[in-house]
Amino acid sequence: MEDRVVSGESIKYEETFEQSLRPQTLSQYIGQEKVKSNLAIFIEAAKQRNETLDHVLLYGPPGLGKTTLAAVIANEMGVNVRTTSGPAIERPGDLAAILTALEPGDVLFIDEIHRLPRSIEEILYPAMEDFCLDIVIGKGPSARSVRLDLPPFTLVGATTRAGAISAPLRDRFGVLCRLEYYNEEQLTDIVIRTAEILNTDIEKIGAIEIARRSRGTPRIANRLLRRVRDFAQVTGNGVITQELADHSLELLQVDRLGLDHIDHKLLKGIIEKFRGGPVGLETIAASIGEESETIEDVYEPYLLQIGFLQRTPRGRMVTNLVYEHFHMEYPNK
Ligand code: ADE
Repeated sequence: MEDRVVSGESIKYEETFEQSLRPQTLSQYIGQEKVKSNLAIFIEAAKQRNETLDHVLLYGPPGLGKTTLAAVIANEMGVNVRTTSGPAIERPGDLAAILTALEPGDVLFIDEIHRLPRSIEEILYPAMEDFCLDIVIGKGPSARSVRLDLPPFTLVGATTRAGAISAPLRDRFGVLCRLEYYNEEQLTDIVIRTAEILNTDIEKIGAIEIARRSRGTPRIANRLLRRVRDFAQVTGNGVITQELADHSLELLQVDRLGLDHIDHKLLKGIIEKFRGGPVGLETIAASIGEESETIEDVYEPYLLQIGFLQRTPRGRMVTNLVYEHFHMEYPNK
């Protein structure tokens, strides 16, 4: 995947930095009101009963705060969070090592849980249901299965692709939460909150300008804020005004809707090479030199959300909004 300032994917060096900006409690967490109010009830109920919280599945596009929410859940429950990811767990022993090291009540956060190998998923079922681990020791005729008790724990799984999770795994989560794109007001509040933590002066209309171009995604809003802050510091007087934000974002090639050169390549590619579609995902991917999964998981969700793309049985189509956005004439079909 090409580097892009509006990518919802996180970059490793940014992660520690991002962590310092993250809200710790539900009341500090901005947006996702439905998810928050439900979780607050389930957390309170579990605490009153002195039980662990039921397993939680968080799903939705990248950058909307799934990892943050897992940490908030652990914090609200007063327990530790252990973090891993689907692709990091390759062998049964990897999962066994993680599970047996948990303290009672801990939250185990598995990011990209849809990428967990099926053989590992099967070990997870009894762990989630009965807090026990069935492991096979030895090989051949002398192999035997032993059952290990585990401390009770809460599994918080996160995925960008709820559809890619097997039904038996999905059914073992008691709480399913779909994270939605944030609106401009919520993103403005997030930008202002982060600017405060970074000790950066920002005018409200400057924050709105950044929010507007953040594709409904806090991770992008915070990244754009940091880049605009660099411009403010070096080319201005340190204050993020609307004019400075607007000018900096233009230099970053982020347009008024938060679309960047890759979105432009994708949309213009469909228009110029395929007369606006419909065209199959694989064909688009090959024609612009991107992976089809990356288009599907990262670029496309927001374009669908703002009504720029449509999925039809015959493939992807751009809508009239795209022609208007690019000041292009509609084709005569
Ligand atoms: N920073 C990133 N996401 C946030 C959120 N949802 N609320 C507050 N601060 C954030």
